[in-house]
This record gives sequence, C-alpha cells and structure tokens, in this order.
Amino acid sequence: MTSATTRGPIQVDGEVFSNKRVGAYQHLTLVADGIAERTRPGNFVALAVGGATSANLLRRSFSIYRVRPAGVYGGTVEIVFAASGAGTQWLADRQPHDAINVVGPLGRPFALPKEPVACALVGGGYGSAPLFALAEKLRERSCAVHMVLGASTESRLFGALEARRAAQSVTVTTLDGSVGIKGLVTDPLPALMARHSIEVVYSCGPMGMLAAATRVATDQGAWSQTAVEEAMACGIGVCMTCVLPVVGDDGVTRMLRSCVEGPVFAGDKVRWDAVGTIPAGTFGAPEVSRQ
Ligand SMILES: Cc1cc2nc3c(=O)[nH]c(=O)nc-3n(C[C@H](O)[C@H](O)[C@H](O)COP(=O)(O)OP(=O)(O)OC[C@H]3O[C@@H](n4cnc5c(N)ncnc54)[C@H](O)[C@@H]3O)c2cc1C
Ligand code: FES
Repeated sequence: MTSATTRGPIQVDGEVFSNKRVGAYQHLTLVADGIAERTRPGNFVALAVGGATSANLLRRSFSIYRVRPAGVYGGTVEIVFAASGAGTQWLADRQPHDAINVVGPLGRPFALPKEPVACALVGGGYGSAPLFALAEKLRERSCAVHMVLGASTESRLFGALEARRAAQSVTVTTLDGSVGIKGLVTDPLPALMARHSIEVVYSCGPMGMLAAATRVATDQGAWSQTAVEEAMACGIGVCMTCVLPVVGDDGVTRMLRSCVEGPVFAGDKVRWDAVGTIPAGTFGAPEVSRQ
C-alpha cells in the first residue's frame, strides 16, 4: 500500500472479535481492515450504535487503545469504554462476529518531541488507554516514559499492569486510596517531574484533570499535550458541537472543533476556565454592547 492510500479516515464494516469486561470497563476488539495502517496515537474512532434501524443516529466516539495491522483475522482496532448510556450499553452487549460500522481514524494525534526527552504520561480512568501506543512511539524515539495513572477507585484504573512494561516508572493514584497513593492523579506530578527532569506532559482524561496537568506542566516550564473529550455529534468537523476556546499563536481566542483541530491540543493554549462558553473577545463572536 502506498502512503497516499494509508492517510485519512475510512468507513469500514467492522466485526466484533472480542468484547471483554476489564474492571469497570469493556475492552472491545474489532476487525476493521485499513484503520490500523492509518492510526497514530491520539486518534479516535466513531462507531455506529444500535443497529441498522436504531434511532441512535449519532456515532459514538472512542479513543483508540491499540491497533494491529492485517494478520490472520484482518486488521484490528481496540477501544476501552465505560458503559454509561444507550450507545455504550449496546456496544457492551455485542458478541463476537456482530457487525459494527467504524469511521476512523479521526482527529489530530499527539505531537511527538524531536529530541529524546523525558515525558510524563498522565491518564485518568479509561483515559489511560490511548497512552500505551503513545508510550511505544516515544520509546522508539529514545524518550524516557514515566506513567501516572489515576482513577476514583481500583476498578476504574486502566492498564496499571501493562504500564510496568510500557514505562520506566509507574505511579498509581486513587481517590479512595483502594490502590496506590490516595488523591488526585496530578498530586504526585510536580515531584515526579522534578525527579526525572520531565520536559513534556501528555494527558488524557476528564477535563478538570487535563486543566490541572497543564497547570503543573506550565508551572515547571514543560510542554503539554492534552487529549480532550468534548461531546461530539458528527465527529468530522461539520456541526460545531465540539468547539472549545483555544488561543492561537497570534494571541487571539478561536472556538476550535475538537474533532478535527483536536482532540489533542497544546494544553497551555486551551482556555480551561472558559470551556463550555464563548469568552469575550473570541474571534467571530458577537460584540457585547456596553451601555
Ligand atoms: C474524542 C473522544 C474520545 C472518547 N473516548 C472514550 C473512551 O476511550 N472510552 C469511553 O468510555 N468514552 C469515550 N468517550 C466518550 C464517549 O463518546 C461517550 O461516553 C459516549 O458517546 C456516550 O454514549 P452513550 O450513548 O452511551 O451515552 P448517551 O449519554 O446516551 O450519549 C448521547 C450523546 O451524548 C454525547 N456524549 C455523552 N457523553 C459524552 C462524553 N463523555 N464525551 C463526549 N460525548 C458524550 C455523545 O455525542 C452521544 O451521541 C470519548 C469521547 C470523545 C469525544
Ligand atoms: S463533532 Fe461536529 S464539528 Fe466536531
């Protein structure tokens, strides 16, 4: 296959290979030929849910955990998800050989450092899943990888064992103290960054966690890359459901679409305190009258 045919998203009639419970999550592996070759760490897939006659018209978005290029069963793509609403519950009920339509890979991936620097990878809950493919790419570039994984409780931690193979050091936190350090995933980050001279902080998880990880990185003069999870409808840049305020190099705030201009953003460019709003002065926003 040429590089021209392995770029950009495709739509594939996928088939469930396996669907297993892992703690509080489901680990779903789909045979979906052609996605693996196109995927870079930080990309996501949008899955059709509910079957052909379903009223759930919107696809559901999931970070890509792992991909394997074509093998005996064809190329596979893996996701880890929490069954919360109608769409994810439907996915959790799928059995091997069931059909699921897949669009992907979507979105911008994590940017990788050019130099072999030390990196901290911070994951909250299922947000840890996309960090493993990233860790592999960073190791290929001789970067030191340190993982900090957190969750509310042990069953909501993802990948703590796998992290031992993927990283030079692993720190685990839980809010209830059921395993690891009791507290937030960002609590041990400042000391870890100082100890290992961390220059880049990658994070994926809830918005509050991303804002906190960015704050710690910026305070210590490190670069930050965050994978956001804004609610999405189309996933392909046409509906503007997923916008959030991001400051450009010219200092101007613009509402960027996290499905195409993200989901990975430089953390220090996102206006975390204004997510969910259109802050005053945003490019293209109506002027508020001052009478
Ligand atoms: C880029 C991206 C990556 C994601 N990665 C994962 C992942 O790896 N694992 C995982 O469990 N979940 C992930 N999510 C969240 C996942 O998309 C939602 O949990 C899912 O859409 C909920 O669908 P539902 O039908 O079960 O719930 P419902 O609440 O019935 O969903 C209805 C609609 O609300 C929106 N929605 C609801 N909750 C969310 C949410 N938290 N984020 C975004 N949209 C939401 C969706 O657009 C969906 O169409 C990701 C979301 C995005 C945008
Ligand atoms: S989800 Fe439609 S523009 Fe991003």
